[in-house]
Amino acid sequence: MRKVLVVGSINMDYVLEVNHLPHNGETILCSDFSLVCGGKGANQACTCAKLGIETMMLGAVGKDDNGDLLLKGLEEAGVNTEYVCRSDHTHSGMAFVSVNKCGENHIIVEQGANKEVTVDFVKQNIQVIDDVDIVILQLEIPIETVAFVAKNAKEKGKIVILDPAPAVKKLPEDLLKNIDLIKPNETELQIITGVSVKNMDDFKIAAKMLMDLGVPEVIVTLGDKGAIYLSQNDVRHFPGEKVDAVDTTAAGDSFTASLGYMLAKGHSIQESISFAIEISALVVTRKGAQSSIPSADESSMIYDRIVSSKN
Ligand code: RIB
Repeated sequence: MRKVLVVGSINMDYVLEVNHLPHNGETILCSDFSLVCGGKGANQACTCAKLGIETMMLGAVGKDDNGDLLLKGLEEAGVNTEYVCRSDHTHSGMAFVSVNKCGENHIIVEQGANKEVTVDFVKQNIQVIDDVDIVILQLEIPIETVAFVAKNAKEKGKIVILDPAPAVKKLPEDLLKNIDLIKPNETELQIITGVSVKNMDDFKIAAKMLMDLGVPEVIVTLGDKGAIYLSQNDVRHFPGEKVDAVDTTAAGDSFTASLGYMLAKGHSIQESISFAIEISALVVTRKGAQSSIPSADESSMIYDRIVSSKN
């Protein structure tokens, strides 16, 4: 049986619905407020588990009410939380999410307990990496931890996927050389490479920079325009799905997780990206992070259609 490990963040999302995202210096009123379980790592873990693959999460929450709710959310989705610790020192991570009428968002994260996912903490639980096929990482925990996990997983022959969000200007080279597949969106690709990406040539230049640093495959998500796959010998555009977007929160997380799920099951990159596009298109039609992740029934219909259409 295939297994996925997600090492990363777990946040409570404080979601503010607004008519427009505020300009510098502007104060606005929100039209609605809700608390939703989120965190890029936790959203990815919940997506994988709901898709039906055995999923472990390595992360941290506080010993607070949010921590109780976040653990419950993960467990209800079917994630194994044995390796989620509860911090004695700090609160659970929080994300302040503003969502406008078009479903676009601004997110500010207060890391809280996510900062306690340290290299030492991973070392204490290192055996969890032995047991899985794919490791999914993002950047809401300390970056040295992300680099340590990637190196250890790569040495053990695991597939390592990095969702480089929130993006940082220069990703450490010792991290990139241990990544098999990186999945930025357009903005993140610009930030991590410094290349302003406006056309396919720009995408190729930016992706080549990452490939030269040791990442064999790059997938850039383009929102409703789909995704571009780039490797040394291949460049392909996958068209997007036109949907009525309500909230784009967790679209990227569900894309990365769906990709990991499909690759863990041995599907081709073509099938994996097509599936990930459809799952994330469904996510943007719903409000919230983990609240928007498709059910097992919904995703298995998409899976059956994509896999059978290729046979
Ligand atoms: O990618 C969406 C997520 O980013 C939110 O759930 C929020 O918690 C932040 O981590």
